[in-house]
Amino acid sequence: MAEVRFKNVTKSFGDVTVIPKLDLVIPDKKFVVLVGPSGCGKSTTLRLIAGLEEVSSGSLFIGENKVNNVLPRNRDIAMVFQSYALYPHMNVWENLAFGLTLRKIDKQEIRKRVKEVSKTLGLEMFLKRRPKDLSGGQRQRVAMGRAIVRRPSVFLFDEPLSNLDAKLRAEMRREIAKLHRRLETTIVYVTHDQVEAMTLADCVVAMKDGIVQQMGEPLELYRRPANLFVAGFIGTPQMNFINGEIEASGRDAKIVTKGMELRLSSRFSGFDKEDVKEVVVGIRPSDLVVSPSSKDSLATIKASVEVREPMGAEVFLSLDSEAGPLQARVENHHKVDVGDTITFGIPEDKMHLFNKETGVSMLSLDDEKPAAE
Ligand SMILES: Nc1ncnc2c1ncn2[C@@H]1O[C@H](COP(=O)(O)OP(=O)(O)O)[C@@H](O)[C@H]1O
Ligand SMILES: [Mg+2]
Repeated sequence: MAEVRFKNVTKSFGDVTVIPKLDLVIPDKKFVVLVGPSGCGKSTTLRLIAGLEEVSSGSLFIGENKVNNVLPRNRDIAMVFQSYALYPHMNVWENLAFGLTLRKIDKQEIRKRVKEVSKTLGLEMFLKRRPKDLSGGQRQRVAMGRAIVRRPSVFLFDEPLSNLDAKLRAEMRREIAKLHRRLETTIVYVTHDQVEAMTLADCVVAMKDGIVQQMGEPLELYRRPANLFVAGFIGTPQMNFINGEIEASGRDAKIVTKGMELRLSSRFSGFDKEDVKEVVVGIRPSDLVVSPSSKDSLATIKASVEVREPMGAEVFLSLDSEAGPLQARVENHHKVDVGDTITFGIPEDKMHLFNKETGVSMLSLDDEKPAAE
């Protein structure tokens, strides 16, 4: 079993605390992606698992074993870096075999494993080449192959695709997903790219300032972001945020923003209306309804189109509304031009609401309806 468990882990460099307190369980055989902006402590977390950094306090377990004092080479992990870190003077075969040779594994076994992995990764044609004679994608494959031949119980990936162009990145992303299915091993994968996180992960861990903001299945984070940070980080274009206030009158309550009044639906009942006044309304660009008919009876807002970006099936619109700038993502059959003033509707069941002061989502826990599809 290769569950990875952080218990009360902190990490500081000198007097700078990078990980204030981490409690995290990475389940056995799952593909877990740590995602967050640059500098939030993703690589540090990964390097703690690898043993390249020591924890400052707390306990780190791999499987049953506490590994705080276990050397990297004895942790049964393999790490793939963004920089590939291949040996330039060795050819592909030698790069793949090197880690096994070091571990004094039987020659025959090495040959078998290297053959197998080069077939899996489509490297058979390149075994005699040096890294400098390979493309970026091929080098990345060798780096992964070098990890795979060791058959570790945990794979650690640190932004392995960042150096590849967009097309290759998408291709490699799919290969890594396939690889995980075949290997059936725990993978901890670090990226700042929310698309990679969403598409690869069984479980996404969203981090900010060394603190886990939310952990869950990708669509769980998309549908029910726990706070403003996660809401803004997951999804493109970013979720729209509109400042508002709750106005309670008797048993009814509404949300008032510039240019709009919204019913405070029962989906948001899990808080004290008297307590929370200042709120942030969240609505995804794809959830705004273009020119709703009156029978839809949606809350509406007027906005003028400032920029129009045709993406193909959809068009991205940058809008100037009464409530501030908004982004919309609409199907391409809508006749919309720059300069037009259009009414947009906000469907109640797609709306998000956050406490402005704490950033915490106000969606009540028993709201079964997904907030967005
Ligand atoms: N060896 C180190 N010494 C001092 N500060 C470090 C060291 N490694 C990382 N940091 C700091 O820790 C923070 C988190 O870094 P890192 O884990 O690399 O973030 P990420 O991978 O999310 O971009 C950054 O502010 C970085 O400057
Ligand atoms: Mg990093």
